Amino acid sequence: MLKIDVITLFPEMIQGAVSHGVLGQALKGDLLSVQAHTPREFATDKHRTVDDRPFGGGDGMIMLSETLEKSIQKVQHKNSKVIYLSPQGSVLTDDKARELSQAEHLVLICGRYGGIDQRIINTYVDEEISIGDYVLSGGELGALVVIDALSRFIPGVLGHVDSADKDSFSEGLLEHPNFTRPREYLGQDVPEVLLSGNHKLIADWKEKVSALVTLKKRPDLFIIYLAEEREKYRALKKKKTAEPLKELFKFWQQLSPQDREVLGLEDLNEESFNG
Ligand SMILES: C[S@@+](CC[C@H](N)C(=O)[O-])C[C@H]1O[C@@H](n2cnc3c(N)ncnc32)[C@H](O)[C@@H]1O
Repeated sequence: MLKIDVITLFPEMIQGAVSHGVLGQALKGDLLSVQAHTPREFATDKHRTVDDRPFGGGDGMIMLSETLEKSIQKVQHKNSKVIYLSPQGSVLTDDKARELSQAEHLVLICGRYGGIDQRIINTYVDEEISIGDYVLSGGELGALVVIDALSRFIPGVLGHVDSADKDSFSEGLLEHPNFTRPREYLGQDVPEVLLSGNHKLIADWKEKVSALVTLKKRPDLFIIYLAEEREKYRALKKKKTAEPLKELFKFWQQLSPQDREVLGLEDLNEESFNG
């Protein structure tokens, strides 16, 4: 079972947030454990101080090093991976979340104020992770994002064993649009193929629609996907299909105007397939 210890000045933010939904179920089912610890428990003065002034002056405070260090030492062991949530870290990706889900023990350090002393990072931190190029007031939301994203890769956390593998990013593509009842809603019909009952046809259609959605919304990801598909195509001896981009263009041309509209793909055009 993956054990996660979160070091935070606001433990109730962590414990409250992880008790809901699939995460809450995972904790109850002993698939994952999340414990929050506050450096304040090691504060010895009467104000239970956990911050200090930065050397060299400047606005704001820095987390007090001794109390933070004692919190880390309390939970860290030889198989721990210590992560500092930081805007300076590598931005979290689906692959990173999957990798972290396989760890034995994670220690997530949430900074507050102006952050933490660099020497704590140098001595204890294995990796710095950011949740995006913006600055938050504390690392707690970052830690929660990491916990939520990785938990979906722990076997048994999601109802269906391979649900996470069908979500956006899993095959380098965004997920296709989804529809539920009724069949006709807000003046738009569910694409006919999804009602066909032909699983192979539907799976193939979903992959192509995923590729079109990615082309439209995340051309940066599409380029990587296309390069991989071209690689596979070049390796094929007997080529039954057209070159991947041409194949996708053909598929897009064959979609009815209604299907293009309901899938949000109406503004793709011939030029979108140049490249
Ligand atoms: C106000 S920020 C400190 C920013 C720091 N002075 C800097 O400029 O790099 C306080 C804390 O929020 C957390 N934090 C801020 N932005 C983050 C982000 N994008 N991802 C993850 N954690 C973040 C970090 O733990 C950080 O120590």
